[in-house]
Amino acid sequence: MRYIGNKTRLLPFILEAVTSLGLGPGAAHDACAGTAVVGRELKASGWRVASSDIMSYSYVFQRAYVVAQRVPSFAELRAGDPELRRAMRSQRFRAALSRRGPGALSAVCEYLSRWLEPERGFIAAHYAPAGGRMYFTDENAMRIDAIRTRLHGWHSEGLIGDDGFYILLAALLEAADRVANTAGVYAAFIKSWQPNAKRAVDLVPRHPVRGARGSTAHLADAEKVASQIGPVELLYIDPPYNSRQYAGYYHIPEVIARGWFSDVPVVRGKTGLIRDSAGTTRSAWCSSKGAERSLRDLLAATEARHVLVSYNSEGVLNEIALRRVLDDAAIDGRSCRFVREYRRYRADRNHAKRRYRADALRELLYHAQLR
Ligand SMILES: C[S@@+](CC[C@H](N)C(=O)[O-])C[C@H]1O[C@@H](n2cnc3c(N)ncnc32)[C@H](O)[C@@H]1O
Repeated sequence: MRYIGNKTRLLPFILEAVTSLGLGPGAAHDACAGTAVVGRELKASGWRVASSDIMSYSYVFQRAYVVAQRVPSFAELRAGDPELRRAMRSQRFRAALSRRGPGALSAVCEYLSRWLEPERGFIAAHYAPAGGRMYFTDENAMRIDAIRTRLHGWHSEGLIGDDGFYILLAALLEAADRVANTAGVYAAFIKSWQPNAKRAVDLVPRHPVRGARGSTAHLADAEKVASQIGPVELLYIDPPYNSRQYAGYYHIPEVIARGWFSDVPVVRGKTGLIRDSAGTTRSAWCSSKGAERSLRDLLAATEARHVLVSYNSEGVLNEIALRRVLDDAAIDGRSCRFVREYRRYRADRNHAKRRYRADALRELLYHAQLR
C-alpha cells in the first residue's frame, strides 16, 4: 500500500545495520508497524516478531504478513459456501481451488474479484459519487462492499479461519488502495477520475512468510505493548515524523479494516473522516514535545537490549533532542547513527516549463544499547 514512511526501499539499509551490529536473530518488537514490511523482513531473516500499531489496517497487515505462517487450505470454504460451489461448476476454477496453498488462495481472490455480485454498502454510501465523494467509482465501491461483507460472513460463520481472513482482508486493502482516486493519501480525493481509479478492484494475494513460530500482532500503543511482551533483543521504532496524523490520512483503509457490521463508523466532513471519540488513533508522536516524551516513555517501558530508531532529517523532533533521549537510555551513555542519503524529486511549480528540483533527504537510523 502507498504509505507515508513505508520502509520497503530501506529494508536492505535496516537489515545491514542489524547485521553490522551483530544482533540476533532473536525476539524483536516492531513498535510502529504500519504496513508491517519491516516485521515481515525480520521474520524472513529468522526473528520472532511482536509488532504493534494504533491503526486497525496495520493490525490486518501484521496478522497477514507477520503472524500467518502458511496459506490456509480453504477446505471449509469449499464445502460451505453455496455460491462458491456454483462458481466451481467451472472446471478451471474448481481445479485451481482444489490446489492446496498458493493456487487455492489465488482462486479465492479471483472469486472475490470477478465472480461476486457488487452490492451497495457502506463504502458506496460514503466514499463514491452516490455518497457525494469521489474516492472510488460507484462500481469499485460496490465491489469493495461486496468483498468486505463476504469476508465478514465467511469469518463469522467459521468458513475461513483467522489466517485466511486477514490474508484476504490485507489483499482487499492493497487492491482498494490501487484504485483509490487520490494522490496517495486519503486526505482528499481528486475531482476527476484518474486512470488507476477506472480499473476494476483486483485482489492480488501476498503469501505469508514462514519463519519462527510465535510472532504476534497488537492493535495498541507501542509503549503499552513494550511493557507487556517482556525481554526482546531488538526494539525497532519507526514513528510518525511530522504533524500529520495517520488517522486523518488513511481513514478509508481504517473503515475497510474495521468493517461496519457491529460498530457503524460515524462519518463526517468533506472527506468522510470517521469519529474517534476514544482518541485511540491520535498519536502523540506527531508533535515535537509529544515525540520526545513518547520516545522516553517507550524506552523506559521496553526490556529490549538494543534499540534502532528510524528518523528522517525533516522530523518534528530535532536531532539534538532525539540523541539526548537515546544517550540517556544507553548503557554507555552513547548512541550512534547510520545514514542513508537519497534524492527526492519535486515538481517545481513556479517555473513555466516543468522542471524538477532534487532535494537531498537523509534517512537516519539511530542505535543504542540499552541498560
Ligand atoms: C512511519 S509509519 C511506520 C511505517 C512502517 N515502518 C512501514 O514500513 O510501513 C508510523 C506508524 O506509527 C504508527 N503509530 C503512531 N503512533 C503510535 C503509537 N503510539 N504506538 C504505535 N504505533 C503508532 C502510525 O499509525 C504509523 O503506522
